[in-house]
Amino acid sequence: MSLVEQLDKNFNEAIKALKKASSDEQIEAVRIQYLGRKGIITTVLKQVKDLPPSKKPVVGQRANQIRNQLEEQIKQTTSNLSSQKLEQKLKESTFDFTLPGRIPAIGNKHLISQIIEEITQIFIGLGYQVAEGPEVELDYYNFTALNTPPDHPARSLQDTFYLKDVKDTARPDEEVLLRTHTSPIQVRVMEEQKPPLYIIAPGKAYRRDVADPSHSPMFHQIEGLAVDENLSFGDLKGTLELFVKQLFGEDRAIRLRPHFFPFTEPSAEVDVSCALCGGAGCRLCGGNGWLEILGCGMVDPNVLEGVGIDIEKYTGFAFGVGVERIAVLRHGLDDIRRLFDNDVRFLEQF
Ligand code: PHE
Repeated sequence: MSLVEQLDKNFNEAIKALKKASSDEQIEAVRIQYLGRKGIITTVLKQVKDLPPSKKPVVGQRANQIRNQLEEQIKQTTSNLSSQKLEQKLKESTFDFTLPGRIPAIGNKHLISQIIEEITQIFIGLGYQVAEGPEVELDYYNFTALNTPPDHPARSLQDTFYLKDVKDTARPDEEVLLRTHTSPIQVRVMEEQKPPLYIIAPGKAYRRDVADPSHSPMFHQIEGLAVDENLSFGDLKGTLELFVKQLFGEDRAIRLRPHFFPFTEPSAEVDVSCALCGGAGCRLCGGNGWLEILGCGMVDPNVLEGVGIDIEKYTGFAFGVGVERIAVLRHGLDDIRRLFDNDVRFLEQF
């Protein structure tokens, strides 16, 4: 029998053996028997080098072909076997493919964050820029620079959280406190940037209030500040009207009531017409048709001068919106503490 015939014979035997193989071990045994280091086909391949030159190419070529084909066949058999195994496993499995899937709980943004984003976007649309400031603040920014004298009642220990053991290294004789409003951001911005300024600044504020349905020691405000040439109270009113209509709807009206803030003059509180009765008076608005939503005014010249702004050239207006208050009005919440209880059954409604 020539070497080529012998190779073909071995090859056919190997294929037959593979067909019978029913486990990875059996396939491996066939591979070792024919293609292993001392395998039948390997041994033949080794003899090729001793053949006369005229025969070498024919036998060599055939031997390589056979080795490749066999290797291919082994791969194929292995993969067939594993898919057969998988199919068998699935058949035997008791898993119920018709069961409904488990839907993972998808979180959503907190209502307060949603309102902050919405209001911020309205003002970004008017060309305002977003600013931030620290929640742990110096007395200077929270009070003094905002024209709030040392004997002002807001400075009382009953209203403000003072951090007795904290000192600012750069200004060691300043009291350190948790800001009681977002207005200190106004001062920080005016110290850093020159007018014209159009700023919207959301953030947390802290007051020593006992938590009840309408109070929380931590709450959120959004501060607005504009400083430019020729800004008037009319610009402030127009801006707020536009803002309120975008937030609550075109059919809502605002009214301004004279008020007092140390850092604005004149100052006002702004009411929006009641959503429920449209101004006629009902339970929601306490019978007077209006709901208070923010404080505002023209920036007091003392404040502008304090940060070195030329009061002959520039005027400014400012406002501060209570975010929890907006949430209450929009959704008829009966208790703002629910916003901070972190009960997802409540929060996921929004
Ligand atoms: N900071 C004031 C408050 O917390 C609100 C306010 C802001 C008033 C800006 C006027 C101008 O009550």
